[in-house]
Amino acid sequence: MSDAQQDAAAAECTSFQTDIRPKFTDEDVQHMNDMVGMDLSDYQTVKQNGDVILERLQDPDNPMPPPPRGPWPKAWIDCFQQWLVKRLP
Ligand code: HEM
Repeated sequence: MSDAQQDAAAAECTSFQTDIRPKFTDEDVQHMNDMVGMDLSDYQTVKQNGDVILERLQDPDNPMPPPPRGPWPKAWIDCFQQWLVKRLP
């Protein structure tokens, strides 16, 4: 993907329901509920834990979600970061 395409993809990031929630699979939600009691399907939970979730998404050594499904593409991580920093709904 070119930089311009990535910017466009990131720019489309508008809300938890449309852009963030669909990036968490049922497996992600279930695992993270079981392992650390964090409900990734819940808006408030993801908002409140946004900084630490972002760190995990970006972690070069132990990314979440773990390989082979992770790490997320850069455009997805940028989208999450925008959603957080701009305090999008
Ligand atoms: C605060 C953020 C997070 C913390 C503290 C966290 C912590 C953990 C821990 C301790 C484990 C078990 C051990 C390991 O596999 O390393 C785990 C597993 C897992 N996490 Fe996370 N995680 C976070 C965010 C996320 C996010 C955002 C996703 C998905 C996008 C995710 C997806 C998963 C999955 C799928 C597993 C299962 C791994 C397996 O069974 O092989 N996690 N997480």
